[in-house]
Amino acid sequence: MKHYLSIHDADDLTQWVDEAIALKKEPKKYKSLGADKTICLLFFNNSLRTRLSTQKAAMNLGMDVMVMNFGNEGWALEYGDGTIMGEGKSEHIKEAAQVVSQYCDIVAIRAFAKLQDKIKDEAEEVLEGFTQYASIPVVNMESSVAHPLQALADAITLEENNAKPKPKVVLSWAPHPKALPHAVANSFVKMMKLQNAEFVITHPEGYELDSRITEGCRIEHNQKKALENADFVYVKNWSSYSDYGEVIHQNTDWMMTAEKLDKAKFMHCLPVRRNMVVEDAVLDGNQSLVIEQANNRTFSAQIVLKKILETIK
Ligand code: CP
Repeated sequence: MKHYLSIHDADDLTQWVDEAIALKKEPKKYKSLGADKTICLLFFNNSLRTRLSTQKAAMNLGMDVMVMNFGNEGWALEYGDGTIMGEGKSEHIKEAAQVVSQYCDIVAIRAFAKLQDKIKDEAEEVLEGFTQYASIPVVNMESSVAHPLQALADAITLEENNAKPKPKVVLSWAPHPKALPHAVANSFVKMMKLQNAEFVITHPEGYELDSRITEGCRIEHNQKKALENADFVYVKNWSSYSDYGEVIHQNTDWMMTAEKLDKAKFMHCLPVRRNMVVEDAVLDGNQSLVIEQANNRTFSAQIVLKKILETIK
């Protein structure tokens, strides 16, 4: 595997999940694999879990880690080919990616959608720019349209908590005061399409995700009906995709409650706004898996880095 940009870069998801669960039992087992190797984590946006869990994963593999808040501390990057850089941007992605490639063996990038221009967001100029011009493997730590490290952690969490041959898993939209990107939901849907599960997506009308991603999935606009007999409920907000980046209505009645959850396990990628997205009783109750999910971020990153290190040794 050269890069990890999408959940589809995991060539055998079931095997990767099993290997990640084994790594949890012996996190330092491959401590020599990353000796004399360096990973550079470049953040164009904020993070808690991704930043710390990816560092932890790299350290478990014996790697050195460099972290840069590129969005605040780096030169503003130009991505266009042939642009006359007469104002604003100081450095071109062509030089930046090649320079970074000399300092480390793997580069990981976080660069969210700006939600102003769908075509530009879907072009993934930051992630694609690094992938095109870097000479080292690139890892996606959440891009405009995908969060594959989160989806892999979610697959691990489902596997560890599932007791049925074919569980019912519901992805439920939730209200949020701000316009959020589609990356987490997109990658969760892609991951669920690889699972043996009854999978349902529920959201108010107008919040349809990219139909190229949800193709073949059951979509139910009645949240109560969707949640019937669910084993797992994954809650996430996203802004409108058709009315790109807009919060078209608040739908506060879509907040997840203990009553709606019933016997299902609760999942969310975090960070989460209490009593807006989900009520306290759910997060503080014993059906919540959110802390386990966050812990599994270390092992999703670790299995990805291990696979890459095995190819570049
Ligand atoms: N879930 C997740 O990616 O968390 P952070 O934004 O804190 O990294």
